[in-house]
Amino acid sequence: MSHLFPTYARWDVTPVKAKGAYLTAKDGKEYLDFTSGISVCNLGHAPDNVQKAVEKQLNQFWHTSNLFQIELQEDVAKQLTDASGLDLVFFGNSGAEANEAAIKLARKSTGRTKIITFVDSFHGRTFATMAATGQEKIKTGFGPMLESFEYVTMNDLDSLKAALDDNTAAIMFEVIQGEGGINEGSADFLKAAEQLAHENSSLVIIDEIQTGIGRTGKAFAYLHIGLDPDIVSFAKGVASGFPLGGIIGKASLADVFSAGSHGSTFGGNPVALAAAKETLATIFDESFLADVTKKGEKLRSLLEKGLADAAIFNKLKGKGLMVGIELDEEAGPFIAKAREQQLLILTAGTHVIRLLPPLNVTDEEIEKAATVIVEMLTA
Ligand SMILES: Cc1ncc(COP(=O)(O)O)c(C=O)c1O
Repeated sequence: MSHLFPTYARWDVTPVKAKGAYLTAKDGKEYLDFTSGISVCNLGHAPDNVQKAVEKQLNQFWHTSNLFQIELQEDVAKQLTDASGLDLVFFGNSGAEANEAAIKLARKSTGRTKIITFVDSFHGRTFATMAATGQEKIKTGFGPMLESFEYVTMNDLDSLKAALDDNTAAIMFEVIQGEGGINEGSADFLKAAEQLAHENSSLVIIDEIQTGIGRTGKAFAYLHIGLDPDIVSFAKGVASGFPLGGIIGKASLADVFSAGSHGSTFGGNPVALAAAKETLATIFDESFLADVTKKGEKLRSLLEKGLADAAIFNKLKGKGLMVGIELDEEAGPFIAKAREQQLLILTAGTHVIRLLPPLNVTDEEIEKAATVIVEMLTA
């Protein structure tokens, strides 16, 4: 009998080892992992350079608290601000905690309470981030939600115009909705939404928790469009599997998060930061990011070609190595079928197969995964 709350529909796979794009299970089976721990292990499992940095930090100190000057926090904050064009970082431990910080910062800095988010968005499982999430199924059974969130439709400017008012602290969105189905906001819409928000003295919060850290071929997905957010939240891939998340914000917000206004005991843990510094040094490199785009194009073109005549194939979605395969039927059963072929993949929404391979995936691994998927969807 399991002693865990059954919050996850777990697969019948018990990992005993994972390296690069491969995961080995207790029964000896080796899987090609195109989930990357849900966009976390962006350099594959246990990359050597990250492991070395973590081992070094383990031999120095593990935790002292945020009462101390932690040099690694400054180093990683510099990497994040350089890559984002923003100024200041707050470190927490997870995506939900990052979005909580973003919501608190927006409300306190504007003195307003309403946050506008999007239908089908996903922002986390805490009370504020669950309320921010534009999916009813996430909220069922938990009673009244935190008030003053309003949901508008992606790519529908009129719905945003109708929702913006003088109590709107911020609009908050994913450039490509991950959990919701790999739904992309158009550049024109997102630019216009940002302009409307700023004209209304509302902040723009971009949730880059799934799309960030190189996943789409840029350090952050909004950089494809040239948006000018006030706050960006990050987590997942930032530390290659060690728990770390946070926000990056404009310098003008500094006074709002003054000493004592926000905090997190474990936030900015030195071991996680050691992992993050190496991870970001590798990923936030122009030639590495250009390669992510190339690899994404290769995967897409193999799928386009192979699936052209597949009756259930609708279209490809996403950017870089965040790839959605939209089907005319539910995607769930295909995830189990792929697992039988020793390929690990995910769903997004109900009808989309989601591929999140490591960003340093090889051409051979791409070909292998594409072959399994094409055979499965054309059978
Ligand atoms: C876009 C987005 N925001 C927030 C979260 C929540 O992150 P966490 O599970 O680390 O709290 C997720 C997780 O899937 C996400 O994809």
